Amino acid sequence: MIIAVDGPAASGKGTIARALATHYKLPHLDTGLLYRAVALNLLRWGGDPESEFAAVRATDFSQIDFDDPELKSEAVGGIASRISVYPAVREALVKRQTDFAAQTGGAVLDGRDIGTVIVPWANAKLFVTATPEIRAERRFAELKRLGIAAHYEDVLIDIQARDDRDSNRSAAPLIMAADADLLDTSDMSIDAAVQRAIALVEARLECSA
Ligand code: C5P
Repeated sequence: MIIAVDGPAASGKGTIARALATHYKLPHLDTGLLYRAVALNLLRWGGDPESEFAAVRATDFSQIDFDDPELKSEAVGGIASRISVYPAVREALVKRQTDFAAQTGGAVLDGRDIGTVIVPWANAKLFVTATPEIRAERRFAELKRLGIAAHYEDVLIDIQARDDRDSNRSAAPLIMAADADLLDTSDMSIDAAVQRAIALVEARLECSA
């Protein structure tokens, strides 16, 4: 079984995808980490994020240390958002994602274009969202917890800029697949959102049984 979880930044899609993976005992891939790995590579080489050529060169990595804390930094996230608009960068990352999805037994993948481009044949697709203000509040609280100084207004502007880039790029924009289920987590606790996600997947599985 393949489950695709898409949605904008800080919507809760990562938490939901991890919970689904645990529930269904499936491996999970946070595809945002692939884009972040390209961004980190580029940053370490001193490559220019404005250059598609340099960004494509930065996709040439064999091993990614998914536990590298640098991957999660705001700076790397910002560059990831910029280099992910390049079609050739996206193309270079497709095989890693489709190979992961093709594992025996299936997988859970979360990102922006999983249900629309990477595995349109997924058995269940969720589009997880929340208002920009709520997502900014969540990101702001997370930064505070990590001891990183930030202003709520700046976090909101950053979230809106990322939404804009993700939704308006020509290559694999962030859109809900026609056959995805919408899950708005704005007014939900994490537990409630996870229970709803499981119920939506179960309903899809029953439909296709
Ligand atoms: O999900 P996360 O915020 O870690 O992703 C970092 C950036 O990578 C996002 O801002 C988004 O632009 C990009 N991304 C993407 N497609 C994916 C996953 C992430 O374009 N499937």
